[in-house]
Amino acid sequence: MASEDEKGKESAPAPPLGRRLDRRDVLLGLTTVPALGLFGYAWVKQRGYEQQRRAAAGGAKKAPAGREINVALLGAGAQGQVLLDSMLRIPGLRFRAVCDIWTEYNQKRVVNTLRKFKFEVNGYEDYREMLDKEKDLDAVVVASPDFWHAPHAVDCLKAGKHVYCEKEMSNTLEGARSMVLAARETGKLLQIGHQRRSHPRYLHCYEKLLGEAKILGRIVTVNGQWNRAVSPDIGYPERYAIPADRLKKYGFKSMEQFRNWRWYKGLGGGPIVDLGSHQIDIYNWFLGANPSYVMASGGNDYHDPKTHEWYDTAMVIYEFETKEGPVRAYYQTQTTNGSQGYFENFMGDQGTLVLSESEANYPGFLYRDPNAPPWDGWVQKGYVSAPKVQEAKPEGEEVTLDVRESVSPDLHRVPVVLRDPYHQPHLENFFDTIRGDAKLHCPAEIGYETAVTVLKVNEAIEARQRLSFRPEEFRI
Ligand SMILES: NC(=O)c1ccc[n+]([C@@H]2O[C@H](COP(=O)([O-])OP(=O)(O)OC[C@H]3O[C@@H](n4cnc5c(N)ncnc54)[C@H](O)[C@@H]3O)[C@@H](O)[C@H]2O)c1
Repeated sequence: MASEDEKGKESAPAPPLGRRLDRRDVLLGLTTVPALGLFGYAWVKQRGYEQQRRAAAGGAKKAPAGREINVALLGAGAQGQVLLDSMLRIPGLRFRAVCDIWTEYNQKRVVNTLRKFKFEVNGYEDYREMLDKEKDLDAVVVASPDFWHAPHAVDCLKAGKHVYCEKEMSNTLEGARSMVLAARETGKLLQIGHQRRSHPRYLHCYEKLLGEAKILGRIVTVNGQWNRAVSPDIGYPERYAIPADRLKKYGFKSMEQFRNWRWYKGLGGGPIVDLGSHQIDIYNWFLGANPSYVMASGGNDYHDPKTHEWYDTAMVIYEFETKEGPVRAYYQTQTTNGSQGYFENFMGDQGTLVLSESEANYPGFLYRDPNAPPWDGWVQKGYVSAPKVQEAKPEGEEVTLDVRESVSPDLHRVPVVLRDPYHQPHLENFFDTIRGDAKLHCPAEIGYETAVTVLKVNEAIEARQRLSFRPEEFRI
């Protein structure tokens, strides 16, 4: 059986070291631009970011007096652990409680970890008991299954806590709506865990490349994907099985369903919601619009529908009406072949941007179309790396190319590397906002727009129809 870490994760839990500028990058930079152009910018940017991180790395106990934030983790499974790994690197947090219904396994593991870090934490099975007893909590980080997000977030907000809640905001629009309203009514912060919104590479692309430089020209088409190879269901150690009455109390029919909740209707939303929501959120963000229409084809083409109620394959086309004109955006997710992993690809009439949050795969590639104005100015400013000339002829091959064959446009890179775990900047943004030093990057209203955009895919698959979005559907 696949372990939780192998199966439940969407991004690598181990803190990635990031990719350093290596000698090849240096040479690449130095051959075509003055030394302090590309290389200077990228280096200064990385250095500054690292210095910031290093200054922050003093550990929770060295936080500025009076500014400590009392935190609870609600849902201590695969993602709860990933978030905790990031939070342990953020100064000024004092962990007070962990709530998880799997008391004998996940809860125990995380409580023990935190006690090793000398935090005096209490473990709870029921979040209401935690809210009753832990009066000093400032914030709750929610990483429970999607169908619990609304009750968890709403009750925490109503108890006066700030909430960081994992995506998908909710498995239902009613649930997501109740979260927006609770945040508004209580005046407490609600950050939704679309962590790419705080990723420095995505911010650089949004602000500098698309905003200031308009480097792609007019974006007309987009495509993206998250392809995953077949993997077995998530298992569990039998001696730690949760008793049936407790499972039932929290909405699960069996241990198998408890562990693989993503695939079940009423609990999760299947791969399009689980994986697609991250990237479709970026479509809306980068295009500065919500879609007008969606059509989708999907089904349970491979897995056993008794244990995989949601579609294992989804192929989706959104139509957007942006300020610059119409955009068609394709997205696919399938779980039978991991070909080319996950990325988003924005295609304009002057260039292409392919990116992902991963430092290993698609860490930001740009291609200038031959008809576009030169990018030298952006290279000099350090917004993009110097180009790597693409060869038309495959190396070492005796082949004859057609004289009309187009040469691939030159490759540039987005010179921004994240050395921290992928979720750290988004969590930092949340805690900085609590302290009054920042503004949420993904407040409830944005999370809601993404939920509306993504949840309609399953509807469109079921209806076998092109469905429209009314602009007011995105607003509360
Ligand atoms: N942002 C990301 O990149 C990312 C990655 C993975 C998962 N997620 C999200 O994180 C959430 C958790 O996913 P996961 O992979 O950790 O799932 P998981 O099944 O591994 O963990 C869920 C945990 O919640 C506990 N739980 C279930 N119901 C509960 C309840 N009512 N009260 C308290 N605890 C309860 C379970 O015992 C389990 O420990 C999901 O919403 C998922 O979409 C986000």
